[in-house]
Amino acid sequence: MILKDIYGRSISYLRVSLTERCNLDCGYCYGGSRNGDDPKRRLSDNTLLKLIKAFSLLGIDKIRYTGGEPLLREKLEDIIKETSKIESIKIIGLTTNGTLLGPRLDAFVRAGLNRLNISLDSLDRATYKKITGKDRLADVLEAIDLAERSQAFGHVKINVVVMRGINDHEIPLFAKWALPRNIDLRFVEFMPSNSPGWGEELFVGEDEIRQKMDLELEPLLINNLNAGPAKIYKHGDYPGRIGFVSAISRSFCARCNRLRLTSRGDLLGCLYDGSSIELGPIVKETGSIDELARMIEYSFREKLYRKSPDINIINGFKPSMREIGG
Ligand code: 5AD
Repeated sequence: MILKDIYGRSISYLRVSLTERCNLDCGYCYGGSRNGDDPKRRLSDNTLLKLIKAFSLLGIDKIRYTGGEPLLREKLEDIIKETSKIESIKIIGLTTNGTLLGPRLDAFVRAGLNRLNISLDSLDRATYKKITGKDRLADVLEAIDLAERSQAFGHVKINVVVMRGINDHEIPLFAKWALPRNIDLRFVEFMPSNSPGWGEELFVGEDEIRQKMDLELEPLLINNLNAGPAKIYKHGDYPGRIGFVSAISRSFCARCNRLRLTSRGDLLGCLYDGSSIELGPIVKETGSIDELARMIEYSFREKLYRKSPDINIINGFKPSMREIGG
């Protein structure tokens, strides 16, 4: 069984937010709301793993754990380990702010983690603190060193959300920092969110990011096949690569192959749609994993609205990145 949306796009990738909690306080994501998640409304580990097994029967071969900050979810090592036992799941990724990663990295790798994205919006201690509310840059840099040395992830991906007047002056510094290392540096266009820290005036598009970087980039076509929404480039003989995730200036909706599951069990077909299917109750009503997979497939076909690849995603609806995990 392969999950296809009504526009013919096949789905092979599920992003799973494990918690709404985060230990940082970035205005554009957390936005000052400190509700945290109510454990009663959170999927249990068991329910979550049942759902992932069902999705694996529907053609999902890649899971990415995100948050909030996923390392705040209890027993993340066990969740990764159980996920890696699901035969058709080949890729298990983690998107983290990196502040708590260093001491647990080896355990995650042993459990089967094989992709790593770290969010890092500044290389300057004061700016990092201004953006995140916490003085944790050194911990993140140390975790990046460890991850690179472990060689468990190929290129470690570093996501930089570019914001005008906040970190856009660091664009060339970021490039210089990443190029000599086994890093995929990805400049991410600032996408509308419902947090108070988001603002259109902060947006910097890919063309301007490239201008500010002022480096000759050569497209890496082979790697682009697997890079998802990022377009990846190299520069000269450097091992480090530079990518752009440009949801606003260059829509990649036509290639969208993903669904998102929140920690409460809501399945989303698109960040910018606002509708979802509650999967928690469906798990309770079903017995076998096969039956669960059929139910998901049915409700996906009947209800879940994925936006047409042709229309502009930015239509007024603003998602909560903290709940959905970016
Ligand atoms: N625009 C672009 N990227 C965002 N992220 C969170 N909010 C936004 C936004 N408004 C990114 C984080 C992280 C990833 C999970 O999503 O920086 O790298």
